[in-house]
Amino acid sequence: MQLILLCTLALCFSDALGQSYTDNGIFDIMEMLARGQRQMNLESVDDRVSLLSEYDFIVVGAGTAGCALAARLSENPKWKVLLLEAGGPESYAMDVPIIAHFLQLGEMNWKYRTQPSNNYCLAMKDNRCNWPRGKVMGGSSVLNYMMYTRANRKDYDQWSRLGNPGWSYDEVLPYFRKYEGSLIPDADTGYARPGRRGPVKISYSSYRTPSADAFVEASQQSGLPRGDYNGESQLSVSYLQTTIGNGTRWSSNRAYLYPLKGKRSNLHVKKNALVTKVLIDPQTKTAYGIMVQIDGRMKKVLARKEVILSAGAINTPQLLMLSGVGPAKHLREVGIKPIADLAVGFNLQDHLAPGITILCNSSSLKPSLMLTTEAVGSFLRGQGPMRIPGGVEALSFYALDGNERTKDWPDVELISVGGAIHLNDVLKLTFGIRTDIYEQMFGEESRQQSNAFMILPMILRPKSRGRIKLRSSNPQLHPLIYANYFADPYDLNIAVRGIQQAVSLLDQPAFQAINARLLDKQLPACRQHGRQTSAYWACYARHFTFTIYHYSGTAKMGPQSDPSAVVDARLRVHGIRNLRVVDASIMPYLVAGHPNGPIFMIAEKAADMIKQDHNYV
Ligand SMILES: Cc1cc2nc3c(=O)[nH]c(=O)nc-3n(C[C@H](O)[C@H](O)[C@H](O)COP(=O)(O)OP(=O)(O)OC[C@H]3O[C@@H](n4cnc5c(N)ncnc54)[C@H](O)[C@@H]3O)c2cc1C
Ligand SMILES: *[C@@H]1O[C@H](CO)[C@@H](O)[C@H](O)[C@H]1NC(C)=O
Ligand SMILES: *[C@@H]1O[C@H](CO)[C@@H](O)[C@H](O)[C@H]1NC(C)=O
Repeated sequence: MQLILLCTLALCFSDALGQSYTDNGIFDIMEMLARGQRQMNLESVDDRVSLLSEYDFIVVGAGTAGCALAARLSENPKWKVLLLEAGGPESYAMDVPIIAHFLQLGEMNWKYRTQPSNNYCLAMKDNRCNWPRGKVMGGSSVLNYMMYTRANRKDYDQWSRLGNPGWSYDEVLPYFRKYEGSLIPDADTGYARPGRRGPVKISYSSYRTPSADAFVEASQQSGLPRGDYNGESQLSVSYLQTTIGNGTRWSSNRAYLYPLKGKRSNLHVKKNALVTKVLIDPQTKTAYGIMVQIDGRMKKVLARKEVILSAGAINTPQLLMLSGVGPAKHLREVGIKPIADLAVGFNLQDHLAPGITILCNSSSLKPSLMLTTEAVGSFLRGQGPMRIPGGVEALSFYALDGNERTKDWPDVELISVGGAIHLNDVLKLTFGIRTDIYEQMFGEESRQQSNAFMILPMILRPKSRGRIKLRSSNPQLHPLIYANYFADPYDLNIAVRGIQQAVSLLDQPAFQAINARLLDKQLPACRQHGRQTSAYWACYARHFTFTIYHYSGTAKMGPQSDPSAVVDARLRVHGIRNLRVVDASIMPYLVAGHPNGPIFMIAEKAADMIKQDHNYV
């Protein structure tokens, strides 16, 4: 294993060693990644099986939720389970935490973009934000930045209060512990303590830049306690807890399916398999199978018990609508006969963070420094900057708008990143920043390679809601994504206060000691608002509307009496038999944190509910 890893890294990085980080470098690295992927075809569960014509359960999408669910359901040796994934295999290159950004440029990303708007994403090409999504075994858990949070107990208590029995924090806590394999030495030891023996490894990064230390210290100097934000109190500052084990990415594929290799003959996995439709009998309103495209050929596969959609918050609503489950009027517009008239695709939520750049005099993460023989060597010894998950190093949580009821329920999270946009050309591409704006804001610092870090103020409980719609009835086409950021004025207001909170930290002694100061460049389109005024920051947020990639809510969980609900509390689609949704789509409200962990929880809980409903306990 160690040897294979060594060879892959040598293979992946040999071309980059000693080379300057130019545009060519980017393409070299992408080519290396692709080559690594082809040569190091990792088989989690062998997919060279011949498909049966019928399974007990068909799980669509091998992402965060899908891998966990397929692994749990196939624990019953009597059930035949099929897991279908549109993307290909994971590769060792994807395991290297620091290169998370690069993966967005490759074929392992669906490469979605939001529809243009005049209210947000204004610094991006065509006023459209890039919305990456994993298209690979492990789904978005292979593209993500590995930040690990459970979010807040009030999030789950709210889900439960909306008429979803079983989802209060006390009731879901055992499912968090079930998947958590926490290696955090100073974690909470009380009732919110983490699980220690689950499949998903959680650890601190073993390398830090000085800006991360300064961030943690400055936050404490401003009065925020240091603590375990996944424990009893979320309102604290901490070095990042990450889904990293032994220094490498711990995707859902690695956590749940690698250990099953060669051991689960009743679990079939098929990669490069695009599901185009769920088959539903319009008379009995019962799901009985799927249509899937494999090697250019369409196949029908039947499900004796259930079809389960785990295709994520963009593709799950797309598939439901393609199958006749969705808003009847919209379905007719694109020529699809409605079978169940449900609010599919509505309630789309995301976390945005208008990040700010802070210059400093301590050393920051620079690709030119990282892709060196020394850095690769220390990666192989289990250390070094390549182990930092995409540069993210520390988090803090604030309830800026908190009243009596919500004072322990944060509305802003600050994310501390040990590098900056002007130090890494790839970020210009992944965020899709316009060349003229990039030049005005970052050009000079980019040429000087000035040391800098970023603070991303992420709004945690947005009130705006977007929507996913079909472009047409063709399953190959991307759906239309309306992000609707800032549609509710609260979101812009809290974003501005988040920026101001981040800026205020710069006065603390820990930041002064590294000579931390705001990048002194004003966005031309916002200049009329003056320096650092609320109006300036609001304009800034409308331009640098960075997504933190937490799309969710598009097949909302809620009781039958709620016209906006798509699935019930057991995640069964209302009005359709034998069809469930198990992924980020079901969240009625997006949780106040990063959702990868909460989605593992959803999958673990769903697996138990499905086992109960089919009398296997
Ligand atoms: C760049 C990025 C950074 C992120 N950073 C973090 C982070 O640091 N921390 C955190 O907690 N969260 C993070 N997230 C979010 C988190 O990773 C996702 O919310 C989570 O992985 C979603 O899980 P899911 O099971 O709902 O969907 P996914 O993991 O996206 O899985 C869906 C799967 O279904 C497959 N699929 C879709 N349609 C079809 C079809 N028709 N046929 C067959 N297969 C199909 C997809 O290819 C994919 O593999 C990040 C996400 C991204 C993209
Ligand atoms: C990490 O590596 C060590 C040594 O190679 C190994 O014993 C251990 O099982 C690994 N841990 C995980 C979580 O795989
Ligand atoms: C960084 O700046 C601070 C404050 O101006 C100064 O005290 C310190 O010596 C500087 N450190 C370096 C390494 O230049």
